[in-house]
Amino acid sequence: MYQAVHLSAECFPIAKVGGLGDVVGALPKYLNIAGISTCVILPKYNQKWNATHPAEAIHQGICTNENFYVEYKILRYVDVHLGFDVYLVDIPNLLFRDNIYGYDDDSIRFLFFQQAAINWINNWAGKPEIIHCHDYHTGLIPFMINNCYDFGNLAGIKTVFTIHNGLYSGAFPTYLLSYFPHFPKESVGLLEWDQTINPLATGIKCSNRVTTVSAGYLDELKYQDNAYNWLYNEYGFKCKGIVNGIDTEVWNPKTDNYLIHLLKNDWASFKQKNKEEICKSVGLDANKPLTIFIGRLNTEKGGELVYQGIHDFLAGNQQMNFYVLGSGAHQIEDAIKRLSGYHPNNVANYIGYNEELAHRLYTAADFLMMPSLVEPCGLNQMYALRYGTIPIVRAVGGLKDTVVDFGDFGGYGIRFNAPEAYDLVTSLYRAFDLYADSDKFDHVRELAVKLDFSWTKAVNNYIEIYKS
Ligand code: GLC
Repeated sequence: MYQAVHLSAECFPIAKVGGLGDVVGALPKYLNIAGISTCVILPKYNQKWNATHPAEAIHQGICTNENFYVEYKILRYVDVHLGFDVYLVDIPNLLFRDNIYGYDDDSIRFLFFQQAAINWINNWAGKPEIIHCHDYHTGLIPFMINNCYDFGNLAGIKTVFTIHNGLYSGAFPTYLLSYFPHFPKESVGLLEWDQTINPLATGIKCSNRVTTVSAGYLDELKYQDNAYNWLYNEYGFKCKGIVNGIDTEVWNPKTDNYLIHLLKNDWASFKQKNKEEICKSVGLDANKPLTIFIGRLNTEKGGELVYQGIHDFLAGNQQMNFYVLGSGAHQIEDAIKRLSGYHPNNVANYIGYNEELAHRLYTAADFLMMPSLVEPCGLNQMYALRYGTIPIVRAVGGLKDTVVDFGDFGGYGIRFNAPEAYDLVTSLYRAFDLYADSDKFDHVRELAVKLDFSWTKAVNNYIEIYKS
């Protein structure tokens, strides 16, 4: 019997688009280690992992009323050991797609994922104590278990709703309510926000606890203009910001399978050897400082600033190199490729997703830039710090909570405030000067690699929420 059941659209290494996948692929493992028996339920997609890891059906069921009839299966992997059990909701025509998101019928896809998952839990002999939902794809569950007649067995189970990214709400038109299991008409207000059915707003209203992935981000949601200010304030009493951890077993410079040169004891030679390897592969000079960007190339993550910042810096100084790894908006991808074209000796890029290259870049780089306009938590700055790479971040959301400027007492990073290229360029110059002062640079790196962002520590904050 599980004490906590996590529901999510992503879970590393099975299905990952971004940080949500990393968190759901790690937090349950550390909850288990801490003694809270935890499993994860996610949709079965048509992705590489599922092609190579067979799963067997352990349950079949039907979600139905007079408007719909959807058969589902629950599958369990035959031989997968991630530190937590994973169950897949299998509804081939809706969920078994090449991508996780991005289809016209996403609302219906995730609606039935949620229904099937709790339909199954409703059949369990014992009930979990906590149902933990991640992002809007699972935001309707706290409503369903307490209001839909079909799920009476589950009413009263405590729910936690974690917001990894409040920019996405999954809102859909009210006529799709015909795909809902029956509930009393007077409850419909719990589902509505701004004349739509809004899973993000529903999760906030109906769950027992709401967490955001940093306290700084929760403040921004409450006090900076957005469509949900009222909700975050009204329900502030049950909201808490908890900074994510990282999986320090996966992210371990001494054992990381992706690396060519592992860390022995000497950080400087570990970094330099990996840097030479990467630089050689793309024709960059390994004697110059190397600044990387890893992530989605969109406005939210400051994709335009990445381009403009590198462009403006190189216009005046070619003594720093850059490597950009990511994908996103085509115009930003194209702009980055053009930069590499203009500056073949200073700018390398890989447009796409590449977990292995990401690990190697954290090892090889001197600096990582994250000029995000919005950053609920951010994991890359923590991966970077663990691999001895100094983060250059805009002071926003979780970045503000996790990175202290080296100019401040005990600081190990570089922070800037304005979401503008000039402020990023100023920070790149500070990085450049820091690198030139090798004693100071070594000292800052020494502070960085001593930090502990592990889940072993962070998991306790979730356990406290569960207990409350
Ligand atoms: C989302 C957020 C990111 C956060 C991650 C995990 O991807 O954009 O800031 O770190 O979720 O919670």
